[in-house]
Amino acid sequence: MNTLEDYCAQHTSAPDKVLNDIYRSIALHTANPHMSSTPYQGTLLHMLTRLASPTLAVEVGSFAGYGAICIARGMRPGGTLHVIEANEEYEAIIRSHAQMAEVSDLIQLHIGQALDILPTLPNNIDLAFIDADKTNYEHYYNIILPKMRPGGLIIFDNMLWYGRVVEEPETQLRCDRSTRIIQHLNDTLTSDPRIQNILLPLRDGLMLCRVKG
Ligand SMILES: C[S@@+](CC[C@H](N)C(=O)[O-])C[C@H]1O[C@@H](n2cnc3c(N)ncnc32)[C@H](O)[C@@H]1O
Repeated sequence: MNTLEDYCAQHTSAPDKVLNDIYRSIALHTANPHMSSTPYQGTLLHMLTRLASPTLAVEVGSFAGYGAICIARGMRPGGTLHVIEANEEYEAIIRSHAQMAEVSDLIQLHIGQALDILPTLPNNIDLAFIDADKTNYEHYYNIILPKMRPGGLIIFDNMLWYGRVVEEPETQLRCDRSTRIIQHLNDTLTSDPRIQNILLPLRDGLMLCRVKG
C-alpha cells in the first residue's frame, strides 16, 4: 500500500467482473490507458448517478467508455446517456465495451467535436460529466448549464490539474494555458450563484456542481 488513495480504493466497493474485464481490455487495446477513469473513480460516478437517478445524461469526452458505462449503469431504465467523443478511433472500442456491459440501449454515441454536438442535445439534462479538452471546459459549462434541469448535477474531472492550480501567484505567469483556464473556471464556478459546488481532491480533482432552482 503506497498512498492514501490506494487505501481508499481498497476500502471502496470493488467493481464486478464485467467492469474488471473492460478495464483490462482498455489496458490491452489502447495506447493511453491512463486516460480512462479508474475503477475507484468509476465507483463514485456510478454511486452519484444512482443517487441522481437521471433520465437524461451527457458525457463529454469518453475515451474507451469506462466512465460512460459506470454512469449508464446508474441511470433510470429507458434513460439516455449522450456520449460525445472527438476521436473516431475510439468508436468501436466504446461500442464494444458498452455491449459487454449490456448498456448499449442507453447510450447514444456522438463522434465529433463537443462544441458542435452539445448545442444539439435536448434540454432537461439531469447529469453531465465533463472530461474532455480542458481549454474548452468553460465553453462546455456555458452551453450545458442552461440545458440542465433544476437540481441536476454537473461533474468536472481534472479540476486540480496535477496540483498545478495551487502554484504561487508569481509563478502563475509561467503556468501553462490549461492551468490558467482551470484556475479561472474553479473561481468562476465558486462564485456562480446558480450552482452549489464542491471540489473534491479525488484523483486529479472532481468538481461537483448542483444546479439550483
Ligand atoms: C480523459 S479522456 C475521457 C475519459 C472518460 N471520460 C472516462 O471516464 O473513462 C478525454 C477524452 O476526451 C476526448 N476529447 C478531447 N477533446 C474533445 C472534444 N473537443 N470533443 C469531444 N471529445 C474530446 C479525447 O479524445 C479523449 O478520449
